[in-house]
Amino acid sequence: MRVVLGVAGGIAAYKAAHVLRALTEAGHDVRVVPTRAALEFVGRATWEALSGHPVTSEVFDDVPEVAHVRLGRTADLVVVAPATADLLARAAGGRADDLLTATLLTATCPVLMAPAMHTEMWQHPATRANVATLRERGVHVLDPDSGRLTGADSGPGRLPEPDAIAAAALALVDAEGKPRAQDLAGRAVVVSAGGTREPLDPVRFLGNRSSGRQGVALARTAQARGARVTLVAANLTVPPPAGVQVVAVETTAELQDAVRTAAAAADVVVMAAAVADFRPATGSAHKIKKQADGAVPPLALVQNPDVLAGLVADPPRTDGGRQVVVGFAAETGDAEGDVLAHGRAKARRKGADLLAVNAVGAGLGFGTADNAVTLLDGRGETVGTVAGSKDAVADGIWDAVVARLAD
Ligand code: CTP
Repeated sequence: MRVVLGVAGGIAAYKAAHVLRALTEAGHDVRVVPTRAALEFVGRATWEALSGHPVTSEVFDDVPEVAHVRLGRTADLVVVAPATADLLARAAGGRADDLLTATLLTATCPVLMAPAMHTEMWQHPATRANVATLRERGVHVLDPDSGRLTGADSGPGRLPEPDAIAAAALALVDAEGKPRAQDLAGRAVVVSAGGTREPLDPVRFLGNRSSGRQGVALARTAQARGARVTLVAANLTVPPPAGVQVVAVETTAELQDAVRTAAAAADVVVMAAAVADFRPATGSAHKIKKQADGAVPPLALVQNPDVLAGLVADPPRTDGGRQVVVGFAAETGDAEGDVLAHGRAKARRKGADLLAVNAVGAGLGFGTADNAVTLLDGRGETVGTVAGSKDAVADGIWDAVVARLAD
């Protein structure tokens, strides 16, 4: 795939070298187009060496080649990282005063911008308006991370992690390099991911082995299909996608609160988190010590609320609109029935619009890169099956969700 990497003039320009590496290592042909200001931070030699192509900021270099038109027209994907306040303003204003803005005007492929700037600049009404304009035109503008900025200050404005920017950008095109359908544009979706932990004492917890990979893939692909995404993240062992709103939680009670709050204005809620069914009846404020006589402390448990069943029984959406609720069921077969039999019973019990059933254990499901699920409706009938990478499974689930939103 042909990718244009635009680099604007901010200190985070040095991190764009890692975005470039992530894109080339994924096998893509990348042309780097830095602005003049970007070259103040990272020189041309770096971009040329890492991309293997000549680099310029100017429309008047290489005139016979008409680079400003050719680059944009032939690109399958444009990524701008970092996008400074000035670059956002020039792009929103339709300027063409350097090679990067000219390329943005001629590009018809998906465009992703990863802003990075000081908090005041990000929150300024001028920048807010420019971002809104670009998003209305279909440009994917990521929200910056919150954290340490240049110097001692911190707040929203930090460039997301380079690998996450590359992944968010590559998710905008399908395996054949075609732009993804924006069939979740204008939709708000909530995805819970990871596994909850119930504290036993200040150092111990009851937890599970969910990595959060499937939930993170669902969040990334929903964003790539145009949705605004809130990721309720319970103890993820993988990084969240760039640019989605992350609400970090620990326990089932916190997860329930966060999901229901975010779901008040959501079109879709996907419960991909592995939620602890039980918690210790009493959490100890102190570390539980070994007894001299070897006595083992009792472990009394109480049941947690079923968050998914609660979303169906008592819908959290406040404007009365349709809300599609999706659950997951990680099953192992047993003497009572196989994976699917358990899945069908659970689908009927929970009543969600869709239940994605997968077999776990023996190298399947938890922590693995690939997945295979059977999608059931609320009556336990099979709607479809999807297998492959967790992104492919996520796309299959969103296809089924989009069909339900259209009902
Ligand atoms: N779930 C939930 N709240 C719980 C337990 C599970 O919202 N307290 C959700 C999960 O996020 C998942 C679905 O319910 O989407 C099914 O989870 P699973 O653990 O398979 O179901 P359980 O109801 O716990 O059934 P069991 O453990 O009896 O198989």
